[in-house]
Amino acid sequence: MKRKIVILGSTGSIGENCLEVIRANREKFDVVGLSARSNVKKFLEQVDEFKPKKVALSNAGSFLKLKKGLSSGTKILAGEDSLTELVESLKSDVVVSGIVGSAGLIPTMAAIKKGIRVGIANKEPLVMAGKIITAAAKRCKATIIPIDSEHSAIWQCLNGEPKKRIKKIVLTASGGPFMNKSLKQLKNVTPAEALNHPKWKMGNKISIDSATMMNKGLEVIEARWLFNMPPEKIEVLIHPQSIVHSMVEFEDTSVIAQMGVPDMKVPIAYALSYPDRWPASLKSLDLSKEKRLDFASPDLKRFPCLKLAFDALSKGSVFPSVLNAANEVAVEAFLAGKIGFMEIPKLIKKALFSNSFDDDDSLKGIIAASSAAREIVSSILKR
Ligand SMILES: NC(=O)c1ccc[n+]([C@@H]2O[C@H](COP(=O)([O-])OP(=O)(O)OC[C@H]3O[C@@H](n4cnc5c(N)ncnc54)[C@H](OP(=O)(O)O)[C@@H]3O)[C@@H](O)[C@H]2O)c1
Repeated sequence: MKRKIVILGSTGSIGENCLEVIRANREKFDVVGLSARSNVKKFLEQVDEFKPKKVALSNAGSFLKLKKGLSSGTKILAGEDSLTELVESLKSDVVVSGIVGSAGLIPTMAAIKKGIRVGIANKEPLVMAGKIITAAAKRCKATIIPIDSEHSAIWQCLNGEPKKRIKKIVLTASGGPFMNKSLKQLKNVTPAEALNHPKWKMGNKISIDSATMMNKGLEVIEARWLFNMPPEKIEVLIHPQSIVHSMVEFEDTSVIAQMGVPDMKVPIAYALSYPDRWPASLKSLDLSKEKRLDFASPDLKRFPCLKLAFDALSKGSVFPSVLNAANEVAVEAFLAGKIGFMEIPKLIKKALFSNSFDDDDSLKGIIAASSAAREIVSSILKR
């Protein structure tokens, strides 16, 4: 029987890759729900091809345009809460959470509460509320399968292994487009240069996060909750070739690494096929052509965002949510040309150490801290 799947953020980089995996496995899936924010043109093409029962458009202003262009009998939900309604109202076996940013928190929680398989690419909700999300998954018997390539790698390295024997988790990082730039040069890089990732083609926000290395910081927090690892057991290594997607060292000093071509269709397919593995039409990894595999420790002076993520993790409570919100606002400002690249960590640091947050790590408290952090950074930007 076909599995019913909902894809949140189908018009994005993860969403499109997910639909490509489904295209290659049409006999296995029935796409019952899709969501987008405002890219109506791409959304209409997807709806036309996959004919989902319902779709959600978070930007209500684009509702009429979507309705006009729709030829199938697909029902449209619109507005900020429409993604949650989509997830709650559809009968599904798998939800792929591929939207970007904190907007994914409530719809992801809704998917988890259904007690089904949830493929998570949208790391920001795990950063904000990882403890709550993973506890809810346990309570509701939902299976969270990571789609981030590093976490998918760790998940695969841990398959059948005794978790109590883990010595450390090593997340690899490509180093992004500015790996070899000096601190002085980093001050003058442009959004266009920052968006030009050497290995991965991704959405704008994660591309900037990769350039600042905040992406790795967010991934450290994501790993802390997905694998229940204390921060001191999580290490980051720069690995520019992006062949080793991450690794685990065990107490006997054995290291298990997961390797593969850098293509998000691989971890997406794995999240859908687990515990099986489906054949893919990708080129195999040819290690004889890879002249070398390099590894190095990250430079926290040039990439202070990574250090700030560890700071947020050790402060605990609502601070990862503060970090995430401050980063979202700072990245938007950088993309809009309002601030320089090295202003991003400065703004985040100001929010993180501003002493303006209540120590309330309930979901409500986490969301309130996120809004307060957005306010703090926005008001600094207005000065
Ligand atoms: N891209 C990758 O290779 C990759 C790898 C690992 C992890 N991730 C993670 O996966 C997530 C998605 O990344 P991406 O690169 O696919 O992003 P993206 O290309 O920017 O796509 C984002 C998707 O979410 C929708 N969206 C954006 N803001 C929204 C909002 N406020 N409410 C509802 N929907 C919204 C977009 O709709 P519109 O198109 O209509 O704007 C689009 O469908 C991020 O959390 C990222 O860190 C991505």
